Amino acid sequence: MKQMIKWFGLGVCGLLVLLVLVAFGLSWRASSRLNGIYDITPEALSIPPSVDAIAEGRRLAAIYCADCHGDDLGGADFFNDPTLAVVDAPNLTRGQGGIGAQMTDADWVRAIRHGVGHEGHPLFIMPSRNFYSFSDDDLGQIIAYLKQASPVDRAANDRSTTLLGRLLLAAGVFGDLIDAEIIDHAAARPTAPPPGVTVEYGKYLADTFGCRTCHGPQLAGGKDPDPNAPPGPNLTPGGKLGAWDEQAFLTSIRTRQSEWMPFDRLKHMTDEELRAVWLYLQSLPALPQSG
Ligand code: HEC
Ligand code: HEC
Repeated sequence: MKQMIKWFGLGVCGLLVLLVLVAFGLSWRASSRLNGIYDITPEALSIPPSVDAIAEGRRLAAIYCADCHGDDLGGADFFNDPTLAVVDAPNLTRGQGGIGAQMTDADWVRAIRHGVGHEGHPLFIMPSRNFYSFSDDDLGQIIAYLKQASPVDRAANDRSTTLLGRLLLAAGVFGDLIDAEIIDHAAARPTAPPPGVTVEYGKYLADTFGCRTCHGPQLAGGKDPDPNAPPGPNLTPGGKLGAWDEQAFLTSIRTRQSEWMPFDRLKHMTDEELRAVWLYLQSLPALPQSG
């Protein structure tokens, strides 16, 4: 009996040691994924200096960037759970605590299209998989504006993760949040369709904005990444939108408020852009709600 208890005790100890080793292994893997260095030479891009380009860049930033980096681009708390991780969307301006003064044109392209920060580390949560498709025109205008944006003095927290946070990351609990790992950095640049009320341009807007993140891979409904959010509804003609017309869509986007659906961002789109998105949604196969 004594012998058995002894073996049992050793077994439990062994198991604990093994668990600790596995935990450290996983945590180490997560750290090396987050702190790895990506050596990416981004494609050259001309940054238009005109006043019009800067104004258009400001509008695009209000659609695509302000939700996380703030309306003044001075940065905001994005995820703050001291038991898991602290990740701020940094201050993008040249003010104190901002990264603007350090960024070269190539650094901006690398961060936005490739999800790699100016120190070479992959960015966490920053949705570059969507921004990868930005046309040279749109990206050039966004960067023209970023370089001009009024300086905001606001400090951001450095990114930090706890052991538990790294374990959950390694176990895939948060999904794919490191876009630099997903993007094919060596692929030929996709050609962006010219602006216009076309299905192709509507798809470009839906892809760069990332409607699929919450409305599912086929836009037939999906899970918003925020665990507290309601499911993203079906946007194909098989859902409620099947009974809408273009005007109902525009009115809905321009007038509704929601804690979850970024209507506030989409209302900066022009009527032409929203009509293109509507045309694209209408072109999708009518699918039943999924997700
Ligand atoms: C869903 C939220 C979200 C959106 C939308 C978003 N970002 Fe970010 N961004 C982040 C987060 C979070 C970080 C910090 C990531 C980290 O520290 O790992 C970040 C980091 C960055 C960086 C840091 C690069 C560096 O060198 O450190 C730049 C530049 C940037 N974002 C630009 C933009 C621009 C421009 C847009 C709009 C086109 C945008 N972001 C939209 C969340 C977002
Ligand atoms: C961050 C997550 C998120 C993103 C990104 C997002 N949506 Fe939504 N959307 C939601 C959620 C959640 C709802 C349902 C809750 C609500 O309406 O308040 C919703 C509702 C809607 C509705 C109303 C549907 C109805 O049945 O009344 C429309 C239309 C819509 N989204 C279109 C879009 C389009 C088009 C895009 C991309 C250009 C998009 N959404 C991007 C989360 C998102």
